[in-house]
Amino acid sequence: DGFPARRLFNQGYSYTYDDVIFLPHYIDFPTEDVTLSTKLTRNIDLSIPCVASPMDTVSESSMAVAMAALGGIAVVHYNNTPAQQASIIRSAKSRRIPFATHPIFKSPSDLISSTRDFASSPCLFVTQSGDSKSNLLGLVSRSNWEKLGAKSVRVGDCVEAVAVSGSSRFDFDQAAAFLDENGVDCVALVSGEGGEVVDVFCAEDVERIRGYPKLGLPSLGADGEFMVGAAMGTREEDKERLDHLVSAGANVVVLDSSQGNSIYQLDMIKYVKRRFPELDVIGGNVVTAYQAHNLIQAGVDGLRVGMGSGSICTTQEVCAVGRGQATAVYKVASIASQSGVPVIADGGISNSGHIVKALTLGASTVMMGSFLAGSNEAPGAYVIQDGRRVKKYRGMGSLEAMTKGSDARYLGDKSKLKVAQGVVGAVADKGSVLRFIPYTMHAVKQGFQDLGASSIQSAHELLRSNVLRLEVRSSAAQVEGGIHGLLSYEKKSF
Ligand code: XMP
Repeated sequence: DGFPARRLFNQGYSYTYDDVIFLPHYIDFPTEDVTLSTKLTRNIDLSIPCVASPMDTVSESSMAVAMAALGGIAVVHYNNTPAQQASIIRSAKSRRIPFATHPIFKSPSDLISSTRDFASSPCLFVTQSGDSKSNLLGLVSRSNWEKLGAKSVRVGDCVEAVAVSGSSRFDFDQAAAFLDENGVDCVALVSGEGGEVVDVFCAEDVERIRGYPKLGLPSLGADGEFMVGAAMGTREEDKERLDHLVSAGANVVVLDSSQGNSIYQLDMIKYVKRRFPELDVIGGNVVTAYQAHNLIQAGVDGLRVGMGSGSICTTQEVCAVGRGQATAVYKVASIASQSGVPVIADGGISNSGHIVKALTLGASTVMMGSFLAGSNEAPGAYVIQDGRRVKKYRGMGSLEAMTKGSDARYLGDKSKLKVAQGVVGAVADKGSVLRFIPYTMHAVKQGFQDLGASSIQSAHELLRSNVLRLEVRSSAAQVEGGIHGLLSYEKKSF
């Protein structure tokens, strides 16, 4: 019944995730027995198969902290200077608790006039300079400002001079105990060097974080700090960037090219391996066995797969090259597995079913952009658009992003003309990744259970031995597989 993958993917068609469907197999274990622990690269283990894309609307320090806390990893983008990228990595690695509350600073002469001043935090920190650069004088809590009548007032006239600073090295339990012991609602977490306030931990965070479903172990490096990945290019100047990334503690580097099978990338893989033999290098992007073979020969520790499958990508339309993502993952994984190189399925993930398909077709992890870009942890502020809270999400090949510097990924040479290979859009507010990733992983486990696979490795084995079977879905079958035939239901009383 159905087709083995080897037969389905060798007929001259390029299939996306939605084109194919697995036939269910046999269940002899509960969902809880499914483990999603996996490998990002030859030497890096993760508890969940989730990687945040190196994009400037996805992966900066909040995302890196949250993904590592969940047991995945984020790859910090490089649409910035080497020093800025290194500082994002250092900031993520200096933290122990995943939370999204950024400190707001005021100077004693500033005015507080409305609740909007407390927009993203229930307390404001007061320093002489009005930023994180000078010593903490105290705080103003929203509750206290409300007790004073919630009217326009100078910060200096309502500052509460309380001992509110703790160490940014506190883990979650230490920070919660600190709040209890000191009887305060907020603590400023201060980094060792220079006593800079890097985060705020509030009593309301304690309940929020305790309420999130638990996953596996966090991703910690040999140094005991959160693991963080970093993207870089393949130009001569990227060699200097590499040194910055390594001294900031990056645990893995991703050579970021839309077409990775180039002399520039092969040379850079060899350079990185010579300069830092202990550092794992992810190469890509590739979609064919030939491309993958060349990068494996050059010494990559992981392969990133996908060309033009991302939600904001226009590469296939602009350049006429690429491949349907299901075919690409299957073809590259088939050859990479022979050399023990894990595959990252990059782009095109918009639901948990796509994750199940990517992993079963041979990937060890999935890399996601749009799936994560609407979260609290993604950079940028929410805006209201047509009555919905949204965040900006843009392709790194969009003109807007390339103007800021990301053209290296798409040009690779010294070209002066910029042709966009991506677009700018918006994605809906999804709340915290700390909440929706655990639910997504639970759904993935249910998919694995239906396939009779209790781990990613066993799914690969079942596919290789032709036990798992697939079929192509006709367009009518795809409509049937989605929600259909319904009107929207709004409860109204007459
Ligand atoms: P998703 O579907 O998760 O895709 O939003 C994220 C991946 O898309 C790639 N990417 C691009 N591809 N033009 C492209 O052709 C672009 O402007 C662009 N920006 C990102 C990238 O691989 C990312 O991980």
